[in-house]
Amino acid sequence: MYRLYREHASLKITKSLKYLKHAEKRIPALTQTFSKAAFTFVKGVYPVYIDHAYGSHMVDVDGNDYIDYLCGLGPIILGYGYKPVDDAIKEQLKNGILFSLPHKLELDLAETICNTVPCAEMVKYSKTGSDAVTLAIRAARAITKRDKIAYCGTLGVQHDWQTTLTTRDYGIPSWNRKQIKVFEYNKIETLEEIFERDGKNIAAVCMEPTMFEPPKGNFLKKAKEIAHKNGAVLIFDEIVTGYRFAIGGGQEKFGVIPDITTLGKGLANGMPLGAVVGKTEFMKIFDNVFFSSTNQGETLSLAAGKATIDEIRSKNVPRHLWDMGTKLMNGYNKLAKENETGISFTGYPIRMRPVCVDSNGIESLEIKSLLLQEMITRGIFLHPGVDYIGFSHTLHDVKKTLAAFEESVKVVKKAVENNSVKKQLRGDVIRPVFPPKKMGTKK
Ligand SMILES: Cc1ncc(COP(=O)(O)O)c(C=O)c1O
Repeated sequence: MYRLYREHASLKITKSLKYLKHAEKRIPALTQTFSKAAFTFVKGVYPVYIDHAYGSHMVDVDGNDYIDYLCGLGPIILGYGYKPVDDAIKEQLKNGILFSLPHKLELDLAETICNTVPCAEMVKYSKTGSDAVTLAIRAARAITKRDKIAYCGTLGVQHDWQTTLTTRDYGIPSWNRKQIKVFEYNKIETLEEIFERDGKNIAAVCMEPTMFEPPKGNFLKKAKEIAHKNGAVLIFDEIVTGYRFAIGGGQEKFGVIPDITTLGKGLANGMPLGAVVGKTEFMKIFDNVFFSSTNQGETLSLAAGKATIDEIRSKNVPRHLWDMGTKLMNGYNKLAKENETGISFTGYPIRMRPVCVDSNGIESLEIKSLLLQEMITRGIFLHPGVDYIGFSHTLHDVKKTLAAFEESVKVVKKAVENNSVKKQLRGDVIRPVFPPKKMGTKK
């Protein structure tokens, strides 16, 4: 049996809570990133502020050490403090951060991206994934001279055009929503309907090649055919899947090459870098599209990007991610099944999510909160919505995590049987980033 970091309930987060109190005065919503907000986790039990991180571990301001499966929300694909990337940043720092003219690193990294991502022939950088997706949409609108978007999903984080679909659409003009036509993944008829109704006005079909469910029945190929038959641009949002599902991302894994792709998480191991890449005939539109920002060619991120991709290629990082992730996911599901709980981990081994259902098969945030509480007090940092694996996660980490899970699952099982889930929670029940009803909305 692996020794766990600490005994149940001995987790002290006093300093974290003190900082949180301070944040009430200085930081609106207490966070820069809703998915990292205290309310997203079990508030009162989970750490809130981090001091530093190394490899696959994070250390909070109270000195508690965790194996981290959120990986900074995905970008920490290689690991924290990963030497070849940090060295590249330090080396570039000696030369300068930002200049009055473009730096040659823009070209070096573009070459590397074009040698790895199948659809990439030209590269336009951004500082965030949200900007990259927004920019891809702007390009498609400029290319087609159309406004509407066929969009798959409701993730709701990528700027106005998409956030308008969520309950956090405050401040976004209502006409924006009318431009977005939503279709469902693996239901090609929902995309067909959009084009039958409004095909001449659709600028782009925009989707992740996959989220948690694999494409079925040639879904991606059919979506591409429909887009092209109707003169629309096919955009794959590979912010998450890029460099993770395969070196060439989801398009390489599933063998469907889009016109334009967005990249972000996984591109620079935590440095702020995104990119829109694609075939020259589409990317040339950026000769005229205005997306021009002072820090766009900032070189520490470009150096990190180059070093990150070099490592991903030379070490075949996706193979490690699939290998470790499969061991972890299979282990979770085996233990959950043996203990006959309503807990499972679904999705992909490299992008999985915990699902907790009650005895009626209904998703229960209370049960999930208890599971997360038990895991964090045993030194395992899980996110309720998505968990990743990085190159620094070792077999030792996986075994430790499964040992913690075995204990946690037993606690949850007992609590469910005794009807004492809520009583055993020492903090708040987790809350979704997008509340089901809008603030101030009448019932
Ligand atoms: C699929 C997808 N696209 C785009 C984004 C936005 O990226 P960023 O958070 O870097 O702005 C995210 C963020 O979670 C994402 O998951």
